[in-house]
Amino acid sequence: MIYPSVECKPHNTRIVTIDSSKIGRFIFSSPENSFLEDWDISLSETSSDAQCLAEAVSRLQTTNIPVAFPTETVYGLGADATRTDAVLGIYTAKQRPPDNPLIVHISSLSQLRKLLLPPKSDDNSRPDPHQIDPIPSIYHSLIARFWPGPLTIILPLPTPSPFAPQATTSLSTVGVRMPSSLLALALIHLTKAPLAAPSANTSTKPSPTMAEHVLHDLSGRIELVIDGGPCEIGIESTVVDGLVHPPLILRPGGVSMNKLRECPGWEEVEIGYKSGADEGVPRAPGMKYRHYSPSAKVVLVEGALELESVKRYTGKGRSIGILRTKNWGRDDIKRGLIFEEDSLSRTDGHVENKALAHMMIKTRQDSSSRIWPLNARRSQIRLDTDSNAAFTDAWTIELGHETATIARGLFSALRELDLKGVGTIYVESIEVGEGDAAAAVMNRLRKAAEVEFRS
Ligand code: TXA
Ligand code: MG
Repeated sequence: MIYPSVECKPHNTRIVTIDSSKIGRFIFSSPENSFLEDWDISLSETSSDAQCLAEAVSRLQTTNIPVAFPTETVYGLGADATRTDAVLGIYTAKQRPPDNPLIVHISSLSQLRKLLLPPKSDDNSRPDPHQIDPIPSIYHSLIARFWPGPLTIILPLPTPSPFAPQATTSLSTVGVRMPSSLLALALIHLTKAPLAAPSANTSTKPSPTMAEHVLHDLSGRIELVIDGGPCEIGIESTVVDGLVHPPLILRPGGVSMNKLRECPGWEEVEIGYKSGADEGVPRAPGMKYRHYSPSAKVVLVEGALELESVKRYTGKGRSIGILRTKNWGRDDIKRGLIFEEDSLSRTDGHVENKALAHMMIKTRQDSSSRIWPLNARRSQIRLDTDSNAAFTDAWTIELGHETATIARGLFSALRELDLKGVGTIYVESIEVGEGDAAAAVMNRLRKAAEVEFRS
């Protein structure tokens, strides 16, 4: 169900590319050059990047149509969290269930403190934020270590709440995050309002990690997408609740449990989410919905992904996709059961889709960047050892071996294989338990997968 009262008229959707290094000068009030406390930005008067940013700000302030923008985790779909009509615009564009609360994004602690402190009764202005700290002390160690960054904290909702009720749904809490993306920080700061922002995908689809993904899902439903390049982390923020004891991780994400446990007060943090078939009532309402799903069926293989695994579950008459991490095909290639062709760009002489082209250009321009080049390779696999047996077309994407690289590429790769029209996507599970984002990767894969088995 979506909010029925607000219609979504077709819009012309534009992508504007903004380079955060060209928008102007960041000015810090504290000697540590920290974004945490108060800071300011002086926009360049001559740069077209600054003009585009100013246009986005103006839209956020004056319209109810949300603006998509990059963060370091995934692209967000932002609106002023204090204005009901603006927040409703998010639910309408994204077709999001109305009981799934939004994360509120802030650009400094002083902004957050002002939002949390009750207004003075006489003149409605808020008191000196340095007098009391309304941020519960349990979060101080996390904020010092992980903000700005991929961590969302659950805070008690102040009374009266400065946020539109639709942003927090019926809860008595609010999820807040300070992103580290400079574009996101500048956008929030210049809008002079906290931005409610879910991931900028259509509900149930993989979260967008490139502006083109947003366009694919929301074209005609919003007017502006800020393109800041591919997201560095590629998977959403970790959501934590420190208002209960022991504290809980409500959604695994960019900050791992091991890293949280290193912080004072968080040594005993527990997993407060479930993933898999036995999922009960989740504490983060969004975790109960089907998520991260491409159109193709996702098959998650625990253990090594080999031809034998593909044979155990085959969709009929269509090509397949393989997300390759560690084991795919090593022996099968030698045995002549997998034939790899050259990469698509070389065999066909052109690059098939814009997202891929964009990624390749970015990678060429900045070879030092760790954004991996998405390169779907066409291969043919023989599911039968009989040498007369027919081949099946397979599109393979190399996600790499490192968790950070797998996380960065996962959603993009699922989308890319959808564009290739594959019927089934096979993915190998990765080891959880190291101090990285592996738990988040496996959580997203379990939610995307329709079939899961051990090889
Ligand atoms: O990395 C991210 O967190 C991205 C970027 C755009 O910042 N945002 C994002 O938002 O993933 P969204 O709406 O797709 O997911 C928000 C999650 C949902 O699972 C929601 O239920 C949970 O946070 N959440 C929000 N407010 C909450 C609250 N007060 N209590 C518990 N869970 C909450
Ligand atoms: Mg989401």
